[in-house]
Amino acid sequence: MLMNSPKIPKTIAADPHYRLVSCESREFFLQDVNDILTQSYPRFLMEDFICFQEWIDLYSLYPEFQFGLIEIASQKMIAQGSCVPIPWDRPLEELPNTGCDWALTTGLAGKSKNTKPTILGAVSLAVLPQYRGRGLSKYLLDYMQELARSYQFSALILAVRPTLKHLYPLTPMERYIQLKNGAGFAFDPWLRTNLKQGAKLIGICDRSTTIVEPIFYWERTTQMRFPETGSYIIPSGIVPLEIDCNENQGSYIEPNIWLSYATA
Ligand SMILES: CC(C)(COP(=O)(O)OP(=O)(O)OC[C@H]1O[C@@H](n2cnc3c(N)ncnc32)[C@H](O)[C@@H]1OP(=O)(O)O)[C@@H](O)C(=O)NCCC(=O)NCCS
Repeated sequence: MLMNSPKIPKTIAADPHYRLVSCESREFFLQDVNDILTQSYPRFLMEDFICFQEWIDLYSLYPEFQFGLIEIASQKMIAQGSCVPIPWDRPLEELPNTGCDWALTTGLAGKSKNTKPTILGAVSLAVLPQYRGRGLSKYLLDYMQELARSYQFSALILAVRPTLKHLYPLTPMERYIQLKNGAGFAFDPWLRTNLKQGAKLIGICDRSTTIVEPIFYWERTTQMRFPETGSYIIPSGIVPLEIDCNENQGSYIEPNIWLSYATA
């Protein structure tokens, strides 16, 4: 199955300023990745994620599916992509509504049970803030598709976190994905970029990331105080946080959008 694995590091034909590197070919790769992720995702997601044993396992079990984008002039890693092979024998329309959480845990469980993976799931994809808006995400998406094709997976799937949804936390995701910009394309830039590049919209995974933590976790990671039980809009949260003071608990259940790229 791995006969045609793409060889990285690899230059980008269309742009000699950047190159891709594999997790194994760069020292301190994981530190660079964590640095990019810390600047790309809200702290309440990152603290949950980086300490997550699954994230560590992903890098040790599937190093060939973890890559970075290097700016050649500075030799700095400016973007990263992480994928996990997943066993899935049902139609993509039936992908679980636990999105991102499901992709990671099912991919890792598949490896330990030695189940043959059939699709490739994107776990994260991020560009350092000062390098955004230059079209670099295309190199990451292209490479993920190349990985999926080379390993003969039937599709690349992504549980997409729409990049402007945090400004509209009260708009239901069902409504948000219908919104259009003036030119008639998807209102959200990240959803739009994927659709323009040929992704198919499968639907909403309404429990893609679930974080249930004590109130002090939320106070520390959002720099807010939660004096009473209720719903709170939190910085960079794409839906409100639900606080239950009696249980000393906050629950954040993030919906994402299932997209797929065919490989054939
Ligand atoms: C999502 C992400 C990887 C896109 O990377 P990027 O290199 O900026 O992507 P592009 O340059 O190709 O831009 C993609 C679209 O976003 C738009 N865009 C980029 N930066 C923007 C900004 N600050 N505000 C509004 N739109 C922006 C671009 O104009 C483009 O839309 P358009 O060309 O159709 O109008 C990057 O924003 C990121 O790392 N975000 C944080 C992590 C994240 O949410 N990852 C996605 C998880 S599924």
